[in-house]
Amino acid sequence: MEQFDAVDVIRTKRDGGVLSHDQIRWVIDAYTRGVVKDEQMAALAMAVFLRGMGREEISQWTRAMIESGERMDFSGIGRPTADKHSTGGVGDKITLPLAPLVATFGVAVPQLSGRGLGHTGGTLDKLESIPGWRASLSNDEVLHQLGEGCGAVICAAGSGLAPADKKLYALRDITSTVDCIPLIASSIMSKKIAEGTGSLVLDVKVGSGAFMKDIDAARELARTMVDLGADAGVRTRALLTDMSTPLGLTVGNALEVAESVEVLAGGGPADVVDLTVALAREMLESAGVRDADVEAALADGRAMDTWRAMIREQGGDPDAPLPVSKHTHTVCAEADGVLGALDALAVGVASWRLGAGRAVKDDPVQAGAGIELHAKPGQRVRKGQPLLTLHTDDEWRIPRALESLEGRIGIGDSAPEERGVVLERVE
Ligand code: URA
Repeated sequence: MEQFDAVDVIRTKRDGGVLSHDQIRWVIDAYTRGVVKDEQMAALAMAVFLRGMGREEISQWTRAMIESGERMDFSGIGRPTADKHSTGGVGDKITLPLAPLVATFGVAVPQLSGRGLGHTGGTLDKLESIPGWRASLSNDEVLHQLGEGCGAVICAAGSGLAPADKKLYALRDITSTVDCIPLIASSIMSKKIAEGTGSLVLDVKVGSGAFMKDIDAARELARTMVDLGADAGVRTRALLTDMSTPLGLTVGNALEVAESVEVLAGGGPADVVDLTVALAREMLESAGVRDADVEAALADGRAMDTWRAMIREQGGDPDAPLPVSKHTHTVCAEADGVLGALDALAVGVASWRLGAGRAVKDDPVQAGAGIELHAKPGQRVRKGQPLLTLHTDDEWRIPRALESLEGRIGIGDSAPEERGVVLERVE
C-alpha cells in the first residue's frame, strides 16, 4: 500500500503549495521504483518549474535523490578530498589540468564526470580521445587511484549514484524542465554529495553558452547549491565565471585535450590558466592547504607528471598522438577592426554540428571534430585574417556549422569592456 497518491502531490505543487518532507521522500522513491510513472513525474517537474520550491523543499528533494542510491566513502584513503563541478560551458576543459594540479599538493580529487549532451562538451568524451584511456572504473579502482595512485581520478559516475537523478534528468531533458534553479541545484548537489567529497568548488557559468544567461540567476543558483552543500556537511563555495565567449582557443574533444596539455606544460591561453589557477586555489584552501604555489606546479612540470600518471593509471598513453579530423575549413575576418563578440552558444552549436557532440544519448562523437579560434574578443584583426578553423570528419557538416556562426562574430571599431573570467565568488 503506497503512502501517498502521485495525483495529490502534483496537485499540491500545481496549486502553489509546499510539499512536505514525507511527500518528497515518497515521490522520489516511488519514481525510482517505477510506481510513479514518467508522465506523472513530468507533470510534477513542470509544476516545480512554474511554482518553484522553497529552501526546505529543495533540501529534502536533494536528500531524497541522494538516498535513492549508494554513497561513496573516501574516509579510508588518508588524504583530504576536493572536487569541482562546472554547470557546463563551451570550451570548458578546466577539469583536465585542474584535477592533476590539485592532486600534486596531496589533496585527492575524485572527479566523477558525465558525457556531453547538446552544445556543451563532456569531460569523458574529451579524455576518450586519448588512445587507450578508460572512463569506467570500479569503486575499488577509484579508491586505489586516489589513495595509492596519483591522487586524481576522472571517470564515469557509476549507475548506483543518485539513480533518481539519472531518471529525472533524462525526463527533464525531453519535457523542457531543465533550466529551473531548484531542479538544477538538487540534481547537481545530489550527485556531488553522494560522491562523498569533503569539499566542493562550483564553477557556475554565466552568459550565452551557459544555462544561466544572467548574473542574478547564476547568483541564485550558486547560493542555493552552496547552502545545500553546507546542509550536508560538504564545505562548498562557488565562483561565477564568464561564458559569453568560449574558454580558451579550442572547442572539441581532442583539440581541448591538446590545449589542456599546453596549460600543464606551463603555457596555454590566459583565460584557461587564470580559471584553472583560481579554482585550484579555492579547492586547496577548502581542503585545508594554504599558500600553495599553484602557478609554480604548472611551470615546473609537477602537475604534468601527475597528469601523465593519471592517464596511464586509466590505461591511456599520454604520449600517443591525438586524433585529427579529415577536413578543415577556415573562416576569415570580413573587415579590419576589433573583434567585439564571438558568441559562446554559436561556437558551441557549430562544434556540435561538426560532430564533436551528440544529439541523442549514446551517439558516438568524433574525437577530432571542433573549432580552433585564432582570435579572442578585444583583439584587433585585419580583413582576410583567419578567425576560426572548423574541424570535422564529414565535409557535409561544414555548411550547417557555418550557419550557426552567421551574424555571431562581431567586428567593430571599439573593444568590448575587458573583464576577467572570474566574475564573483559565493561562499
Ligand atoms: N547538470 C546536472 O547534473 N543537472 C542539471 O540539472 C543541470 C546540469
